[in-house]
Amino acid sequence: MKIAVTTTRETDDNLNLKAIEIAKELNIPYIKRENFSIKKAILKENFDYLLVVERDKIVIKGEDSNLFWHPNMSELRIKSIEQGNKEAIIEATKLCEGDSILDCTLGLAGDSLVFSTVVGENGSVVGTEVNKYIAYLSKCGLENYTNANDEIITYTNNIKVVNESYEDYLLKQKDNSFDVVYFDPMFKKPNKKSTSINSFRDFADHKELTNEILDEALRVCKKRVVIKERHGFNDFEKLGIKKYYGGKKKGSIIYGVIEK
Ligand SMILES: C[S@@+](CC[C@H](N)C(=O)[O-])C[C@H]1O[C@@H](n2cnc3c(N)ncnc32)[C@H](O)[C@@H]1O
Repeated sequence: MKIAVTTTRETDDNLNLKAIEIAKELNIPYIKRENFSIKKAILKENFDYLLVVERDKIVIKGEDSNLFWHPNMSELRIKSIEQGNKEAIIEATKLCEGDSILDCTLGLAGDSLVFSTVVGENGSVVGTEVNKYIAYLSKCGLENYTNANDEIITYTNNIKVVNESYEDYLLKQKDNSFDVVYFDPMFKKPNKKSTSINSFRDFADHKELTNEILDEALRVCKKRVVIKERHGFNDFEKLGIKKYYGGKKKGSIIYGVIEK
């Protein structure tokens, strides 16, 4: 994938410097933003995407897509949990205040944000994400998210982002290191067709879960391993998963559970 860092057109020395530092950190080229539209800039240099440093956020722009971190959906789920509603993800993980969870497939940290709210200040959330761009969007998004209430800021500060594959990370962990280990692999068939989901799919790793990985996750967890999938489009039977929560309708979200 050909990608470079640039800034918005309304840039200044600080923003240029920030973009140059990000390019170094991600080990990709920096290009000075001329007075071109993003589409023209992409076509001119034959890029697939440009990582655009804006004043308040970082956006990965394709010809027709924008990918950036935002906690929109998580905020709704957090509110629902706080109002006492049952959320299948919490029923499946049985997370409580003070628990620790390893989110092996961090992505844009939507689920981790929900976990972080439930485990609170005394708990911990570690998220592994193998793709360096997705990990970077999440790390910066979580760190810089200031456009919210104080509580949300506390939750975002409570998540440790690790840019590493879960295979490598799990191998390095001692037995019983986390209460829960969680996986949300990429769906084989996306349930929505939108340009932002398609660009996310371009960056994300699509590897499938294996029995070997689940054994490793069981070793590392104290209580259970939880896997998010779609009802009717999953490998739960092949992976020996018999217990699950959520979605009754075909295509809806379902959480498989393996108790330790
Ligand atoms: C469906 S997304 C996760 C979405 C996330 N739960 C959320 O709420 O935002 C799956 C993510 O897992 C990542 N991933 C896939 N295989 C991985 C691996 N072996 N190690 C770490 N991350 C992986 C993908 O790159 C992708 O970002």
